[in-house]
Amino acid sequence: MSTAPTAQEQFDERASGALTAVYLTPDVVAQRDKVLALLAPREGERALDIGCGPGLTTESLAQGVGTRGRVRGVDIAPAMLSIARRRCASLPQVSFELADVARLPYADASFDVALASQVYEYVEDIDGALRELARVIRPGGRALLVDTDWESAVWASHDDVRMRRVIETWNEHIPHPQLPRTLKRRMTQAGFDDVRVEVVPLLNVAYDPNTYSVGMMQMLGNFAAGRNGLTAADISTWKDDARAIGAEGDYFFSLNRFVFIGVRR
Ligand SMILES: C[S@@+](CC[C@H](N)C(=O)[O-])C[C@H]1O[C@@H](n2cnc3c(N)ncnc32)[C@H](O)[C@@H]1O
Repeated sequence: MSTAPTAQEQFDERASGALTAVYLTPDVVAQRDKVLALLAPREGERALDIGCGPGLTTESLAQGVGTRGRVRGVDIAPAMLSIARRRCASLPQVSFELADVARLPYADASFDVALASQVYEYVEDIDGALRELARVIRPGGRALLVDTDWESAVWASHDDVRMRRVIETWNEHIPHPQLPRTLKRRMTQAGFDDVRVEVVPLLNVAYDPNTYSVGMMQMLGNFAAGRNGLTAADISTWKDDARAIGAEGDYFFSLNRFVFIGVRR
């Protein structure tokens, strides 16, 4: 068992609100659009948003399937679900359930498409959860999973050792920080064929609070402070350093999102 905090512990009201703000920055909006285009939901399809969080992907799926389709969003964190319910209140084709991805409250073959963005890395028994995902998708249906490996991060710093310590510590917030490396095989074993893998990078080349990386510094810092010898003062210096690099004109951040698309056998 990992020592990572549970999803409910991590996504309380404050953290859920903060993550929603980060996920509304223009770079993350553009990333979401690219990911949705890879899934290409069609008019009238039955779609499932797994670990839907604040409902941003749910809303996009609803636009894709239209009012002749339907979208279910499922999440284990009540604070996230309240944000998602508010966001999608005017969309009649959308409804939400509080549930664990390990036990989805749906009959076999209920969906044509499913999407899970940044979710399975939080799940201890991934293989069991992927079999559960395969169970609820009809044969020929599609599943798209997005996951990150923070080892792919390039983040300019005047102190690379401290930067690496912050990222290594951040990796401890989830049980599977390097999931993309094994996800194609795991999806295939769970019941998906023709698993395609794509990369959608996030790139920030200026210090701007309205971007993914600067927004995420707060979350990374909150988690890392007090762990692995990193003090609150270290985190504060780390943040100041990013601002200073920005003022010098050298701010640079890039991170790969890996996208896996499979077809249910
Ligand atoms: C990083 S957020 C991503 C939210 C959303 N998919 C998005 O991309 O906008 C991860 C979400 O997965 C949910 N989650 C984590 N483990 C879960 C589980 N076992 N069952 C259901 N939801 C889970 C969390 O509560 C959180 O809302």
